Parts: sequence; C-alpha cells; structure tokens
Amino acid sequence: MAYTIDEIVDLLNLEDFREVYLEADRIRKENVGDIVHIRALLEFSNYCKRRCKYCGLNCTNKSVKRYRMSPEEIISTTYEAAVNGYKTIVLQSGEDNYYTPKILGEIVKSIKKLNMDITLCCGELDYDSYAYLKECGADRYLLKHETAQNELYEYLHPCGTLQERIQCLKIIKKLGYETGGGFMVGLPNQTTKTIAMDLMLLKEIGCDMAGIGTFISHPNTLLKDCEHGSTEMTKRAVALARIMMPSINLPATTSLGVINDKEKVDIFSCGANVIMQKITPNEYKALYEIYPSNLAETNIRLQRIKLENQIKELNRIPL
Ligand code: 5AD
Repeated sequence: MAYTIDEIVDLLNLEDFREVYLEADRIRKENVGDIVHIRALLEFSNYCKRRCKYCGLNCTNKSVKRYRMSPEEIISTTYEAAVNGYKTIVLQSGEDNYYTPKILGEIVKSIKKLNMDITLCCGELDYDSYAYLKECGADRYLLKHETAQNELYEYLHPCGTLQERIQCLKIIKKLGYETGGGFMVGLPNQTTKTIAMDLMLLKEIGCDMAGIGTFISHPNTLLKDCEHGSTEMTKRAVALARIMMPSINLPATTSLGVINDKEKVDIFSCGANVIMQKITPNEYKALYEIYPSNLAETNIRLQRIKLENQIKELNRIPL
C-alpha cells in the first residue's frame, strides 16, 4: 500500500485502530505466513565511541563496566546456539574500533562453517569494511536510522548526521546484504508526522527488515527525565510497516516487552514475524544496558524450548 505522509498520520491518530491491526495480521499471513523466525542475539562488546543521548552505553556514561568478548568466546557461544537449533546469530556491539574488519571477518568466517546465517549490528562503517564483511560471509546488517527527522536526529546524535546514516544504509543495501533499518517510537519531541516519515524512509531505502522499538528512558543518560514511549503507538507503527511493506521482516523488539510483557506477545497479531533471543553470557548480559530491562538468566537450551512453546501457543510456527 502506498500511503502519503498525511494518510499515515491520520491512521496513526485513529481513535479505534482495531481494523488496521486485523488488516496488518491478514497481510502478514498472506505474505510471510505463520513462521516466527527466532534469532539468537549475542551482545559481544559494550564499548562504544558514540554519545547518543538515549543510549545507556554512550561513552560519557562512566558508570558502565565495559567488556569485550574474545573471538573464541563469541564463536563458542554461537556454537552452543547452533547446537540448540538457532539458525541465525545476530552479533551486536557498540561502535568499538577494537574489532577491526579483519578480526570481525575472521569471526564471521568461523561462524559460517557452522552453517548459520549471520546478522551484524555494529554501527556505521566505511564502504570497504561493509564490503569485506559481506565477502567473509555476513548475510544481513542491522543499522537503525533511529529517527527520520533531521533536527531530532542531530539533537540525539552529537557524533553523526542523518545523511551519513542513510548513506550507510544505501551502501549496505547495494552490497546485497539483507538490510535492516528501524527507529524508536516515543522519542522526546517526536510527533506522528515523524513516525510517518520514519515509515516512508524504511520503504524508500528498501529495507528487508525493520526494528521498531519503544523509547525507554535510561537513568544514566541526558534523557533520564523523559517519559517512556507509548507501546500502543509502537504497535501501530509496526502494523503500518506491515501494510506498507508486505514481505518485510518485523521483529517484536525487546523494548516493547520492557514496559509490559503482554505487549511483546500481542505484537505478533499486529504484523510481527521475528523475535530475537538474547544469548549473551550471564557475566556480560547485565552490562549491555542500552535501556533498563528485566533480564532472564541465559540458558541457551532452556530459553529456546520455552520460546518455541510460547510461539506454538500463538498458533505460529517457530523456526
Ligand atoms: N530506548 C529504546 N531503544 C533504544 N535503543 C538504544 N537506546 C534505547 C532506548 N533508550 C535502541 C536503538 C538502537 C538499538 C540497538 O537499541 O534503536 O539501534
């Protein structure tokens, strides 16, 4: 469906959104079916050189104990995920120059031997680095644009511009990665028009997946006094993303479950078809605090079984 910005705004502001949710669910079923893709998420370094105002890992937050996993640890944790049925590993970190493209590339090559799909989520890199990592075997790259509103982007990101972010996404797409974008809902000074622009941008870039998450204020950031975003508005944005981009992959983002666990289940009836499961080892997990959340202990095998059962209870097919 090709909406205009104004039409999206009107839809987002509807008093009763139920029909739109039903339409999103129908389109989801018709285009991507009942499968829910489970991705294992490994947060391998919480070092970050950026100062994004909303993120607990920004480099000015001195209260975070920083960690880096060694390539061996990353590979052995991924191996455990593979053995327990995970078919995709998402390797996520802050923007940490310690892991050069060479080091990351070796990790990617080793993991490829496990026959897993690899998603990288390590921030902005240059053309050659993205190209090299693709050659090494990375399949997907996640880089959210966070907000499509220029002034808001610049206020939130003292270290970069929206232009640069979009340029990276275009390179990622051109190199043949499955390209993941996304944005936050409920950022300070965001309006429904901003969200409409966010959705349009995902479409314009041709994103193959989009993480749409609720903003959660983190007590050790400059946005500590801001309110959390609305879960209802997040679900509306996800539903419209499904209607506008019928075969896109849409994860039930973790932040949705922080405010209300039920929402995270609910989102599967609003268009979502992917879920990420943290498999970060317990000694590091709590240190990867982008935003505050209630973390369950990592037990790769048991978590997988539990999640598969939860998905089946929704009459969907875990993969
Ligand atoms: N609230 C919600 N999402 C956040 N992210 C970072 N900080 C926050 C926050 N305070 C999201 C961003 C980023 C992803 C890894 O986490 O969208 O891309």
